[in-house]
Amino acid sequence: MNKQRYIMVIDEGTTSARAIVFNHQGNIVSMSQKSIKQYFPHPGWVEQDPVEIWKDVESALIEALIKKNIEPYQIQSLGIANQRETAVVWNKDTGKPICKAIVWQSKQTSKISDQIKEAGYSKMIHHKTGLIIDSYFSATKLKWILDHVPNAREDAEAGKLLFGTVDTWLLWNLTGGKVFATDYSNASRTMMFNIHTLKWDPQILRLLKIPSQMLPKVYPSDHLYGHTGDYTFEGLKIPITGIMGDQQASLFGQLALSPGMVKNTYGTGAFIMMNTGEKPILSDNGLITTIAYGFDGKVNYALEGSIFVAGSAIQWLKDGMRIINDPGESEVMAREAPNHCGVYVVPAFSGLGAPYWNQQTRGAVFGLTRGTTREEFVKATLNSLAYQTKDVLRTMQKDTHIDLKNLNVDGGATKNDYLMQFQADLLGIPIHRAVVSEVTALGIAYLSGLASGYWKDLDEVKRCGEKRDEFKPKMSVKERNHYYLGWLNAVKAAQVFKG
Ligand code: G3P
Repeated sequence: MNKQRYIMVIDEGTTSARAIVFNHQGNIVSMSQKSIKQYFPHPGWVEQDPVEIWKDVESALIEALIKKNIEPYQIQSLGIANQRETAVVWNKDTGKPICKAIVWQSKQTSKISDQIKEAGYSKMIHHKTGLIIDSYFSATKLKWILDHVPNAREDAEAGKLLFGTVDTWLLWNLTGGKVFATDYSNASRTMMFNIHTLKWDPQILRLLKIPSQMLPKVYPSDHLYGHTGDYTFEGLKIPITGIMGDQQASLFGQLALSPGMVKNTYGTGAFIMMNTGEKPILSDNGLITTIAYGFDGKVNYALEGSIFVAGSAIQWLKDGMRIINDPGESEVMAREAPNHCGVYVVPAFSGLGAPYWNQQTRGAVFGLTRGTTREEFVKATLNSLAYQTKDVLRTMQKDTHIDLKNLNVDGGATKNDYLMQFQADLLGIPIHRAVVSEVTALGIAYLSGLASGYWKDLDEVKRCGEKRDEFKPKMSVKERNHYYLGWLNAVKAAQVFKG
């Protein structure tokens, strides 16, 4: 009998749900992936079906086991990493969602956010939650659901409804409705959680008229949340010992666990996080303060710069502009374009995130001439990922006065060597690319496995994640500054345009 034990994780992202089994060396033993269906009922709105999310996760879990003949008893513990902020509301008794989940990217609550800002609550909310008022976070999404879904507010007040981010929804389903909880990192993305007291904030709940009884219990990320329920995994009770938002999980997977360490994940968007240790640092310059994780009895905080469009700009080159046939082609084309062609693409398709936070800005292209080619257009789009990253890192340096030594990167677009080299050139520091492709999943595996004793301690875990590719900066300072100045002008001009 195969007695080997493993850690299993769920990485439920915006566009796909994955179940991955890791071994003791941190290698992937089995994996199954399902696409998550997106709904766009109105321009700017993005929704998903919570039942579809759960079913996709459930079948991915089962498939990942079956593929490699792994028995449920071989799983020592399970961890959950998830797309953050996305809001789900369901009925406590029936377990049925009362509407679709409002996804983090959705702009349907921009108006509510503006109203809260105009009413003068920005400082209070920033101080308590570390966040900047924006439709990105869960609070206004939940308020919207309570205001618009028939009977929702009455039912919520009567204690019949539950709210959760996707981790909470999955945990509730995995445990057959027995456990209603979340972790600090996910709670810190709701704009209702006080990151200093580690409690839901009564003043914010009153302001948004959110009944506290519909909110989950909040625990450290490495908590024993419960066990899989009576029907999942053939009734086998697998402990669920770790939950983190996906970006926090990738910070953990990058082993960026000491103050000043930074990671960037180039996914649909790009999410840059600096671990700031046990003290939250509030940004004066448009970054958000968030909880990185509660681990080993301590709470670590992070500064985060969220860029809304990164990998999705490359997707747009393929599906929208039809300039490329697959993302890999963008690298070849970028290398064919001349060094600096003066073209800038500002991919502000759903406003600008950090450090600008301008919900109204739309995408723009600058510097076109009669001679501009497809290759230059593609190159300018790729470069926009690096420029946006530099915007955020400059701001982090301003806020923390920490000089970055290198940047740890992961995510789909990091396969693009052209982009990685340009990123190193533009920042003037080495880029360290993770060799393991699934850093988010690995991060939650580490956390869950440390909590369940699969790995003895962090030193043991660190041996799994030692290998990296390095890209060293080669560009002159003069050239770097010249390129970047052009970008700053382009972003400024994009914000002025009113269509
Ligand atoms: O804040 C949103 C983020 O968690 C989404 O990440 O990887 O699902 O695009 P991803």
